Amino acid sequence: MARIGVVGLGTMGAALALNIADSGFDVAVYNRSEGATNDLMAGAGGLAERLIPAKTLEELVAAIEPPRSILIMVKAGDPVDSVIASLTPLLDKGDLIIDGGNADFNDTRRRTEALTSEGLGYLGVGVSGGEEGARHGPSIMVGGTEETYRGIEDIIEAIAAKFKGAPCAAWLGPDGAGHFVKTVHNGIEYADMQFIAEVYGLLRAEGRPLDKMAKMFAEWNGGPLHSYLIEITAEILAAADKDTGKPVVDVILDQAGQKGTGRWTVIAALKLGQSATAIESAVAARSWSADKAAREAAEAAYPNAKVALSTLLDTDLELALLGARIIGYGQGFALLGAASEAFDWNLDLQKIAEIWRAGCIIRSSLLDEIMMAADEGLPHGQLILSPVIQPHLKEAVPALRRVTAAAVQAGVPVPAFAAALSYFDTFRRGRGTADLIQAQRDFFGRHGFERVDREGTDFHGPWAG
Ligand code: 6PG
Repeated sequence: MARIGVVGLGTMGAALALNIADSGFDVAVYNRSEGATNDLMAGAGGLAERLIPAKTLEELVAAIEPPRSILIMVKAGDPVDSVIASLTPLLDKGDLIIDGGNADFNDTRRRTEALTSEGLGYLGVGVSGGEEGARHGPSIMVGGTEETYRGIEDIIEAIAAKFKGAPCAAWLGPDGAGHFVKTVHNGIEYADMQFIAEVYGLLRAEGRPLDKMAKMFAEWNGGPLHSYLIEITAEILAAADKDTGKPVVDVILDQAGQKGTGRWTVIAALKLGQSATAIESAVAARSWSADKAAREAAEAAYPNAKVALSTLLDTDLELALLGARIIGYGQGFALLGAASEAFDWNLDLQKIAEIWRAGCIIRSSLLDEIMMAADEGLPHGQLILSPVIQPHLKEAVPALRRVTAAAVQAGVPVPAFAAALSYFDTFRRGRGTADLIQAQRDFFGRHGFERVDREGTDFHGPWAG
């Protein structure tokens, strides 16, 4: 009998099923349309003997040893609810459903409550690493009860990526904690991808040939920017299109899709009274990218004034990218801290940095330092205040400022760089400008304000009325 079942054999589900089989566990597999099950079986080679194909959910459930564990890998939203609704009548108390897709953590909280009240277990699990990761070792972020997790820990650890031998998987907290951490992972991913795209945009505006750009990114990958996203950027920029022989980036339409995790990060940040502006800029840039016709019309209406881009030093670009990356992570970690407090999750930020070091899309050498910073504790919940991080940011910010200023002067868009820099500049100002905002609120709405020289919250200005 199978130790676990997988429902949903799309790219990620099929890859995870093979990974589980490859790790020595028998897996029952089911997909609503049988074609995907047949394709998986046909391509499984020697692993087929560990896979038990099921034609119906009943068959799947019957093939798994009780108490059953069933991993569902279907599209976020209604499809998850619909699979749960079909599965639950077939299950016994003590069985477990695991949602391994990118779910909105609010949905995970709701489903956890509903299923646990029926005596079923539920885990909301973030899985990062794309298809390659899912097949050979993703980073895995688990939410639910710790006891439930212990029941499948052996499988999760076996299939996870390893960093120096340690599995990049962990139980992080109750109900929506795992999916929330995965969402923030994706938010950081959005920001990092956008920072890199902005550097690419600047280099393109400067007229730098793609092969030189590719070489530069490859070199950067050997330094403090070492990361999966820098590595693949170097490969992408060097790649030629199979059909035309042109550089592949030149034949790709400049419109980026998004499935929603970046947006969820920003919404969660706002609801928690935080603001992840670098991540938000990255989401905005994707949304704007989608409206190509309007952008073309705007380009015709407001042609660029042809201010030459001042020569950008490669070392400045490298440092600017590092500084922006630190700020992007900083906003993500501040959000994790805020959610942990709001939902009583007791998130271990060091552990999160630890399991992001291999398998996931944002794996980078910076995470080693973030781990150290989290171990020491983040002053005021801010990574940018950590004594481990401060020297890097102090070195990088002047370059981030020079690069952003040059871009602004030349009219080259750098929304995420600018957002990161503004966040930094706003945060390092002990006395900001909200005194005037408070005065304005009091002026038109008698909202009252606090004073610098007296206790109390209900002072009013000398304006009439
Ligand atoms: C990962 C990725 C993965 C996927 C995103 C893409 O960690 O493996 O983040 O989850 O690539 O769903 O999301 P967008 O379509 O929103 O870019």
